[in-house]
Amino acid sequence: MSQRPRGTRDFTPDEMEARRYLEGLFRTEAELHGFKEIATPIFEYTELFTLKSGPNIVDEMYAFEDKGGRQIALRPELTAPTMRFFVNDLTNYPRPLKLFYFGQCFRYERPQSGRYREFFQFGAELLGAANPESDAEVIALAADTIGRSGLTNYVIRIGHIGILRERLYKGGATPANASPILQKLDKKLFDEARALMGQIGMSSGDVEEVIRITEVVGSPELLEEQQGEASDYLKELFSVLTEYGIANAQVDLGVVRGLDYYTGMVFEMDAPSLGAEKQICGGGSYSLTELFGGDKVFSTGFAIGFDRTLLALEREGLTPGKRRLQAYVVPTSDRMRHKAFTIVARLRKEGISADVDLMRRSIGKNLKYADAVGARYVVIVGEKEDAQGSVTVRNLGSGDQTLVSTRELPKALK
Ligand code: HAM
Repeated sequence: MSQRPRGTRDFTPDEMEARRYLEGLFRTEAELHGFKEIATPIFEYTELFTLKSGPNIVDEMYAFEDKGGRQIALRPELTAPTMRFFVNDLTNYPRPLKLFYFGQCFRYERPQSGRYREFFQFGAELLGAANPESDAEVIALAADTIGRSGLTNYVIRIGHIGILRERLYKGGATPANASPILQKLDKKLFDEARALMGQIGMSSGDVEEVIRITEVVGSPELLEEQQGEASDYLKELFSVLTEYGIANAQVDLGVVRGLDYYTGMVFEMDAPSLGAEKQICGGGSYSLTELFGGDKVFSTGFAIGFDRTLLALEREGLTPGKRRLQAYVVPTSDRMRHKAFTIVARLRKEGISADVDLMRRSIGKNLKYADAVGARYVVIVGEKEDAQGSVTVRNLGSGDQTLVSTRELPKALK
């Protein structure tokens, strides 16, 4: 038997129904917040990602040489492509420019529950603003999008990468050697982070001060004990979030993020029910445009792990909305078959989901099939009823049957 590649998935009709429904909710939410959808290619030049995304992403890329000898990568994320697109074509749009996207990403990771080699991200980027309220606007969209899905058990953790960076530089680190230290802190590998800080000659006092910052986790009031521009910035951001009605946000100065491009506020959302791969969203503020040949444009964005959100909903016993077939049309004889096709075509034109017997089954078997596919009504097209210009409509839930004039059928089913 042919197998699908490791880390990829097929989706059943039921799964696709749930996925499309959730995707629709996410799109609606983004539009309610004034964001507009874009799409970019599934593959890009590898360089787009190696320039700044950091070692985590680069090691995990599906990268190859194409037949023309070009270095190509399947996109591991959509922030760098969005920034490339902006620099190429969107710089004349009014700012702030509020964009969102939905699409698959590819990472060569070790597959496990909630971690795949092909997965889907729903994300947004707000370009051209860099202040607490533009960051809060982005966090609010992420929170409202997850909220819209119906998930209740999740937390938002907000930090500021500037606070950790400043402390590292004060202790003697440089941007180049701070990066591997931050990678270790992101993974909570404190002993390895301590060793790296020691190797670059940081004093043990400075090292412990960096570790202490990562342990500032809890209610926003903790910021009162922190000094400096970055913590004042976060205080303002939390006050906007309160006005937006976002209640489940915490401070976590240990949020580092695996990607290298963040410069200021960083945030993550976790669904504890997911266990090891519990991060359902990650984001923050950054500037990438100058790297792709444009002017420096400060931006903030996030990406929600679409697959993980669905898993978390499942764990809470919630399945996104199921659509049902409204009508299943059954002819009682060969002579009535053509009449049934006319009726089903008319229902579909009127926007009513409808299906028709294609197996030439008996009425009894057709009723069983209609039940199995979850149809609401069966429309029985019989000779006697037809002579009166009518059909019989059977409600599969209650078992009730009524005679309905064929002309009135769409209205009756609606
Ligand atoms: P990220 O944290 O690398 O950020 O990915 C965002 C989300 O994608 C994660 O929180 C997780 O839910 C999901 N995810 C990542 N890898 C996998 C995987 N292998 N399988 C399933 N889900 C996964 C970014 O990608 C940034 N571009 C976010 C961003 C946008 N920052 C600014 N703007």
